[in-house]
Amino acid sequence: MLTCPFSVATQQAVREALTHADLGVRPLHEPVPKALLNTSVQPLFTALVRMRDDAGHPELKAAISKALNAFSDRDVFRMATQVAQQLAPRVLTAEQLTRFNYALPIGVLAEMLGVADQQRTALVDDVLDFVRCIAPGGSEQQMARGAIAAGRLQEWMRVADGPLFAQLCQLIGDRSVAIANAIGLFFQACEGTAGLLGQTLLLMQERDVVAEDAISTVLQETPPIYNTRRFAQRDIELDGQPLVIGQAVLIALKTAEESFAFGYGNHRCPGAGWAQAIALGGIRHLLTLNIEPEVVAHFRWRVSQNVHVPEFFTAEE
Ligand code: HEM
Repeated sequence: MLTCPFSVATQQAVREALTHADLGVRPLHEPVPKALLNTSVQPLFTALVRMRDDAGHPELKAAISKALNAFSDRDVFRMATQVAQQLAPRVLTAEQLTRFNYALPIGVLAEMLGVADQQRTALVDDVLDFVRCIAPGGSEQQMARGAIAAGRLQEWMRVADGPLFAQLCQLIGDRSVAIANAIGLFFQACEGTAGLLGQTLLLMQERDVVAEDAISTVLQETPPIYNTRRFAQRDIELDGQPLVIGQAVLIALKTAEESFAFGYGNHRCPGAGWAQAIALGGIRHLLTLNIEPEVVAHFRWRVSQNVHVPEFFTAEE
């Protein structure tokens, strides 16, 4: 495999890369990561809208976008407020805040998809394990844990009965593809929204801004998902440079001229409205708890090749 790194980071080159007909989301010779072959994740992975460039992508993308758009920002904000109150009825430690940031988008989606209440804690752990096995750079052990988590997520989705799941099933038509992409929503929403929540809290410590402005500033200045990848499907030219078949391209989602916080082109995020409504509901709720500045004083970045999520911790005195 050719792994020579090639990266683009100017507005024009990023737009070119994200709309290039011969740059795909997966390498041609490895449509599914090797470690996931012959596991329960393989059929799920191949059905995900994020991992497909075939002729079926536009229709699937349209169905998922329509299902998400069936709920207004107001509906999502209300649900986020309700889930935030349940997750954090009172003031949080730094570690609980970190968990809250991951659990909130997962909890909102779980409510809308109709995953049973008693499975919520395990659901957050399973989604985080699943993310680790799908995101670039996963170890063999993470792949194995992710495969087990994916099996459980599929079982829970089989009996889900919420309004978002009903929309997905109806609009996609094929129930197993709907289940895979419902699980895909957890995967897509989890780290990005956790990063948006955590970074917004940090920004609000530094600047005297209201939550909406802080959220927009983070998306403009330090997008939580800060890069993505594409793979040359044949020999091409990109940004005036030759690229050979199989070569990977690292695409910066923040350039000097423009932030591509929610991507660009065919794979642009269909959940941008949801992400901002969830973040706003979460931040507004946290503000009612009067979190002390010490809670967000210490953090490390989540170990990841493409997201910036601050993970808060209590420093030893
Ligand atoms: C702040 C939070 C979020 C950020 C920063 C974010 C960002 C992104 C980005 C950059 C992409 C494009 C990836 C690429 O082109 O390689 C993407 C795709 C996607 N996002 Fe989001 N996202 C967030 C939240 C969400 C939420 C809440 C949902 C669903 C409710 C969602 C659903 C999706 C889906 C399904 C895709 C794949 C679309 C496709 O491949 O056609 N995202 N997201």
